[in-house]
Amino acid sequence: MLFEGLELVSALATLAACLVSVTLLLAVSQQLWQLRWAATRDKSCKLPIPKGSMGFPLIGETGHWLLQVFSKIFSHEALESYLPKIQLVIQDTLRAWSSHPEAINVYQEAQKLTFRMAVRVLLGFSIPEEDLGHLFHVYQQFVENVFSLPVDLPFSGYRRGIQARQTLQKGLEKAIREKLQCTQGKDYSDALDILIESSKEHGKEMTMQELKDGTLELIFAAYATTASASTSLIMQLLKHPAVLEKLREELRAQGILHSGGCPCEGTLRLDMLSGLRYLDCVIKEVMRLFTPISGGYRTVLQTFELDGFQIPKGWSVMYSIRDTHDTAPVFKDVNVFDPDRFSQARSEDKDGRFHYLPFGGGVRTCLGKHLAKLFLKVLAVELASTSRFELATRTFPRITLVPVLHPVDGLSVKFFGLDSNQNKILPETEAMLSATV
Ligand code: HEM
Repeated sequence: MLFEGLELVSALATLAACLVSVTLLLAVSQQLWQLRWAATRDKSCKLPIPKGSMGFPLIGETGHWLLQVFSKIFSHEALESYLPKIQLVIQDTLRAWSSHPEAINVYQEAQKLTFRMAVRVLLGFSIPEEDLGHLFHVYQQFVENVFSLPVDLPFSGYRRGIQARQTLQKGLEKAIREKLQCTQGKDYSDALDILIESSKEHGKEMTMQELKDGTLELIFAAYATTASASTSLIMQLLKHPAVLEKLREELRAQGILHSGGCPCEGTLRLDMLSGLRYLDCVIKEVMRLFTPISGGYRTVLQTFELDGFQIPKGWSVMYSIRDTHDTAPVFKDVNVFDPDRFSQARSEDKDGRFHYLPFGGGVRTCLGKHLAKLFLKVLAVELASTSRFELATRTFPRITLVPVLHPVDGLSVKFFGLDSNQNKILPETEAMLSATV
């Protein structure tokens, strides 16, 4: 009895200690907030500062010399040269998905696919398949810990992230050295070639560290975002068979639907894709309703006013892409998946500059947006042409938004091969289809 009484007292004491700590923490935050306000507010401006904004820089400025040369990597000419390789990587992946006896986890596989695209096509690395698998595994560890608290202790996420980054950098250094030595047999300039050439034009020889940083940044920017959008695209095509059928009609009308079950490798061209109006609407609608990135950070360069509040110079602010899409008055029935809202007749996104911004806006808009859209379009064309796919669970999974938007269980889907008439491909053709790129 005495024992139970003591346990109760000890529990109450712990609770009280917790409450005191939380109250102290809140009081300290409030003081810091007041200090920050007093130090940064523009005294000549009578407007208040919005409550709830911390005003502390959360993420540092991301800009560096790389951004100057990145634009060349995503030029029209460069995209045209990546296109056949992207198509091959996607076709190869869809064949593997279709020949898999079980349902696949789409989000996980889409991550592998975009990683492969970034490493093989964008960077032109010819890393053996086994090493690529290992690199992907390490890369996932890096990404999982990228948003951890900066506490460098054994077993902390931060430490795991640093270790993964070191391993990745070693792997990338090996791949870069091999690539620099072996220039034969290349039929196109990849992003790394352009990066090296452009920096020479700027009178700057890139160091190995800069090359490693540049390649890691490119993979990071391309990988999770495009995997998220690819998964959302597949999920919406599953949910809306009428949209998939309309897409197939458009491909048929343009003579793009593959004939006789032949995968027709590497035959797409940029002008063919830009002529597919409905495809463009589908991709835009996926990116509106399922925008992979919630928003972005900016440092305020000049005190400005927003809705009657002052936002002082030097503060870090976050703009929300998702909230913008959810509240923009230009979109009718915002929660409905309706690709036709982007059709020429309706053009809902044309009223106003900043209602639709899946790739951000302003000078720091996404540099890889044309590549990302190209990738998604090729994926949609290949899915519509060569695949039949069915949801392998009874209901669609819940969506989570962190670190990028994705289905909670990854989206379980069974893929089947198709010929041009959308009939299931016969088993004897599967051996032929299992060839690798
Ligand atoms: C569906 C796929 C993608 C989405 C939704 C997306 C979205 C975004 C967004 C919203 C930003 C701006 C963040 C901000 O405002 O600060 C951004 C920046 C960036 N993105 Fe993407 N992105 C995608 C794919 C790609 C790809 C494939 C690449 C290239 C390999 C890429 C390269 C970049 C780069 C380099 C930046 C930084 C630009 C700067 O800081 O000036 N992105 N992306």
